[in-house]
Amino acid sequence: QTLRLSVSQLEKGGYPHFMLKEIFEQPNSIYDCIRGRIVNNGTEIKLSGITDHPDRFINASRIIIVACGTSWHAALIGARLFESIARIPAQVEYASEFRYSNPIVTPQDIVIAISQSGETADTLAAIKLAKERGAFVYGVCNVVSSSIARETDTGTYIHVGPEIGVASTKAFTGQVTVLTMLALAIGQLRCTISKEKLTEMAHALINLPELIKETLKLNKNIERLSSIFTYAHNFLYLGRGYNYPSALEGALKLKEISYIHAEGYPAAEMKHGPIALIDREMPTVVIAPTDELHEKIISNIQQVKARGGSVIAIVTRGDETIPEIADHTLEIPPVPECLSPIIVSIPLQLLAYHIAVMKGCNVDMPRNLAKSVTVE
Ligand code: G6P
Repeated sequence: QTLRLSVSQLEKGGYPHFMLKEIFEQPNSIYDCIRGRIVNNGTEIKLSGITDHPDRFINASRIIIVACGTSWHAALIGARLFESIARIPAQVEYASEFRYSNPIVTPQDIVIAISQSGETADTLAAIKLAKERGAFVYGVCNVVSSSIARETDTGTYIHVGPEIGVASTKAFTGQVTVLTMLALAIGQLRCTISKEKLTEMAHALINLPELIKETLKLNKNIERLSSIFTYAHNFLYLGRGYNYPSALEGALKLKEISYIHAEGYPAAEMKHGPIALIDREMPTVVIAPTDELHEKIISNIQQVKARGGSVIAIVTRGDETIPEIADHTLEIPPVPECLSPIIVSIPLQLLAYHIAVMKGCNVDMPRNLAKSVTVE
């Protein structure tokens, strides 16, 4: 018997689309991303970009992160990590805005450019400007020897392997993983994190591939759920804290590949606008892992329900309250709050993927979008 497979089927490794293949690669891609970078029995983070330039990081007055698209969402998580772990003021800029804003940049600033492709024109222009103004420029790229990787003073590759699907998946989780390691490495250098906390976080990072594997088991469940929502024209995504950027990224994934309009919002801002849109036709995805603000997000869910909206909630296993009030619940394993965007992104990616496939969309090459935007 002859097995007939096209080159493209072979490249997809048995998956119907590159996007699904790349979603399922994440246990391995995250493993590759952290490999060799957590050392001394998980008590130390070693990134050459940091250890080769310790003074730059010890004396840094500010971190400015520039990026576009999904990488910009990773940047929002990164800024929060830098402030809370390394205690350096951090701000995030769209590269396209930064480059034309005559920004105040000083030699004490560190500008971090995040780019999967390393070729995005606006991000490249932003780092050239930052260099002209004397900043130390650090790259977080996937594609080795790409223009941004070459143009930056130093950096850390995310090493997640080639990403073919236009909608970014494994690059996003790789970026957040690298940003976490960066924040920890700088915190270690500046002594803003205790040895115990660092070791705890390092172990949590080492554990990520297993947790992702476990979370991917939601796939069948999400596929079933997705068939209910192909009718929707609008979706709202809500999250708080580290998961506010997750809400933005979840909404971006859905609109990119399914062409359903979706908006991500910090949950508490719902009452300042989006609540007016909620009705039976507009589903809301609520990212609600068990954390400090859990009670608050429960009341957001109640507000949506009171207006006839349906709720898909992403919760931590063991949550007994939200499954009682949400229409659909997706359980993720417990994980430290600052790492939760990595785990949360798995069901968000799968939800967007299945809805788009069921709508007959070309998920790997959505209309009007390009994998890498090398022009303005
Ligand atoms: C395009 C891609 C997005 C990506 C963005 C930034 O819009 O479709 O997936 O997030 O560019 O790309 P970069 O390669 O700089 O991360």
